[in-house]
Amino acid sequence: MAQDAVTLIKNDHRLMERLFARLKAGTGDRRELVTEIEARLSAHARAEEAEVYPVIAKAAAEKDDVEHGADEHLEAEHKLRKVRNLIDSPHFDLAVEEFVAAVDHHVREEESELLPALRKATDEQTLERLGAAFERARLDELDTSGYGTAPAATGTGELAEATRDELYERAREADIPGRSRMNKDDLIEALREQE
Ligand SMILES: [Fe+2]
Ligand SMILES: [Fe+2]
Repeated sequence: MAQDAVTLIKNDHRLMERLFARLKAGTGDRRELVTEIEARLSAHARAEEAEVYPVIAKAAAEKDDVEHGADEHLEAEHKLRKVRNLIDSPHFDLAVEEFVAAVDHHVREEESELLPALRKATDEQTLERLGAAFERARLDELDTSGYGTAPAATGTGELAEATRDELYERAREADIPGRSRMNKDDLIEALREQE
């Protein structure tokens, strides 16, 4: 089912917030998590800038707010580079906190100003068309960093890099029911649930 741009953007915000929570909690491989966040954040930002922000600037006459939003993307990416540089440092937690605060601020503005302005200025059909364009641009970006085939909301890691046959073999070992009918994403999801 087609989804509108506002819903897709918000869903991706929630997905990234789950990754931030894992980073803060110290669960999982820090380095891997930072790499995934970098890939998802930049794919999201580029897709917004290419497909959604220009429409908000034009249709909703929010040019200044859109420029401000794009500046905040750069600021967040800068703060995330700092996180990466401090990955083995005692200052890591503080860098994470500053990064997450910057993204939170941006997401709040986007969800309370830019996205409502977009919804107001466009009809449902346009929003769905924009949603498809946003998602295509985002997934294209993610593909280049190897995260494009990952199931949404769960992150990636080694499962996403395995072939379907390898995943199927692992599902057989774990005796996951219905595995022969599953596609790659389903297999990844089922294997993750076993973890
Ligand atoms: Fe966003
Ligand atoms: Fe944004």
